[in-house]
Amino acid sequence: MSDGPPAPGGGPVLEARGLIRVFQSGGEELRILDGLDLAVERGRSQAIVGASGIGKSTLLYALGGLDRPTGGQVLFEGRSVYDRGEDELAAWRNRSVGFVFQFHHLLGDFTALENVALPARLAGLGPAEAEGRARPLLERVGLGGRLDHRPGLLSGGEQQRVALARALVMEPQVLLADEPTGNLDIKSAAGVSALILELVAERGLAAVIVTHSERLAGLVDAALELAAGRLGPGA
Ligand SMILES: Nc1ncnc2c1ncn2[C@@H]1O[C@H](COP(=O)(O)OP(=O)(O)O)[C@@H](O)[C@H]1O
Ligand SMILES: [Mg+2]
Repeated sequence: MSDGPPAPGGGPVLEARGLIRVFQSGGEELRILDGLDLAVERGRSQAIVGASGIGKSTLLYALGGLDRPTGGQVLFEGRSVYDRGEDELAAWRNRSVGFVFQFHHLLGDFTALENVALPARLAGLGPAEAEGRARPLLERVGLGGRLDHRPGLLSGGEQQRVALARALVMEPQVLLADEPTGNLDIKSAAGVSALILELVAERGLAAVIVTHSERLAGLVDAALELAAGRLGPGA
């Protein structure tokens, strides 16, 4: 198993400190995150569980630089994520964060290989170099025989494997997964869960995985429950 470089200072790769997110809804204030703290080390999978509508996706978007919190901080390798300008923030997301969602969000007109290569193309790599990165990743997720398939010709589990490969093509340090097996049958879900955890270990990722799956929550290093805007020990 690879044992890549430690995070500078050996501290957590990704950290939330006193995170607050308030939404305004019909004149009402929804305080979805309320002083939330979290620290994720490299090679660790942090599962988050919690009731529907409690704020799990809101937390992941804030952690991944997609949604500026109302208060508190998100730190990557000790540096505040939201202190970056918009361009720098976008570049950081592209390079350092991989997202996997419940619905794969693959582009239907693109092949599996093109979908996985896309973040590398957006980062400015040429097609040969981008596909040179994408191909071994698709082989690693068990889809070496499906490179030229469009998403519509793949099963749900295969689509999520492509989405996982796409999330990792820029070799991010952070993986954020929002109910990645929520739309899969039990057998496909088990395969995708196992694969995510293998890749986290192999690549020394700092992973945050929102899941309804007791199986996935039980396999990861620790499950925390989001309730009343903060994280506590899982049930
Ligand atoms: N942009 C927004 N504006 C207003 N309310 C929002 C917004 N985004 C999310 N919410 C609300 O915040 C709550 C948490 O949403 P979400 O993070 O999606 O929950 P979960 O992922 O745990 O199901 C929900 O009540 C949702 O309606
Ligand atoms: Mg959600």
